[in-house]
Amino acid sequence: MKKSIPATNDFCPQTLFLYGTYKEDGSPNFGLFCWLSYYWDSEMGVMACIGGEKLTKDRINATKIFSANLVTEDLLPLADYWGSADKRKANITAEVEKGRILDVPILTKSPWAFELEVNQSIDTNDGIVYLCKVRNVLVDESLCDDSMTHEEKIKKIKPAQTVGGTYFAWDGNAIGLWGEPMKNISKM
Ligand SMILES: Cc1cc2nc3c(=O)[nH]c(=O)nc-3n(C[C@H](O)[C@H](O)[C@H](O)COP(=O)(O)O)c2cc1C
Repeated sequence: MKKSIPATNDFCPQTLFLYGTYKEDGSPNFGLFCWLSYYWDSEMGVMACIGGEKLTKDRINATKIFSANLVTEDLLPLADYWGSADKRKANITAEVEKGRILDVPILTKSPWAFELEVNQSIDTNDGIVYLCKVRNVLVDESLCDDSMTHEEKIKKIKPAQTVGGTYFAWDGNAIGLWGEPMKNISKM
């Protein structure tokens, strides 16, 4: 038996990324995003949707470049904070380096980052969809070890996921509601 329900992405797990841009004063800004996927145009591209008004959106529109840093379980408290309305209340610092190809901030602790350049933008009524060229994929050296399987590598980095306002660990266990992991920031 099937039932029709209102539009929702519950039960469609999403991978989390921190988008990095430089603010006008040159300091880095990171925002948490999960509406990211991939498309094909003779090479792999990344598509990213930003809803409403966001600083990240303003900076991408101004510079046409950004980084997308994979959020792991270790990074979740910080990511959760950067996804909240409180994020500008405290000055949380993190180790940041520069992209190798594009002038974008990269989170050192993220094991996998895309350096992205916007190729096309599609304005929706209340948001924007960016179709991006992948200018570089910057990864921890350990992920380039050909003696390890993909299973071993992904179990090592443990990407965090989200479904229906809840964060999930790579093993499928719930690890907090949105707004909870940031309470552990001081323990990071
Ligand atoms: C788990 C999670 C996922 C999010 N994903 C998105 C997203 O894909 N698109 C979006 O527009 N906002 C998303 N947000 C909201 C932004 O993270 C939030 O508005 C943040 O303040 C953006 O940073 P900025 O103000 O520096 O641009 C998400 C928030 C959370 C907690």
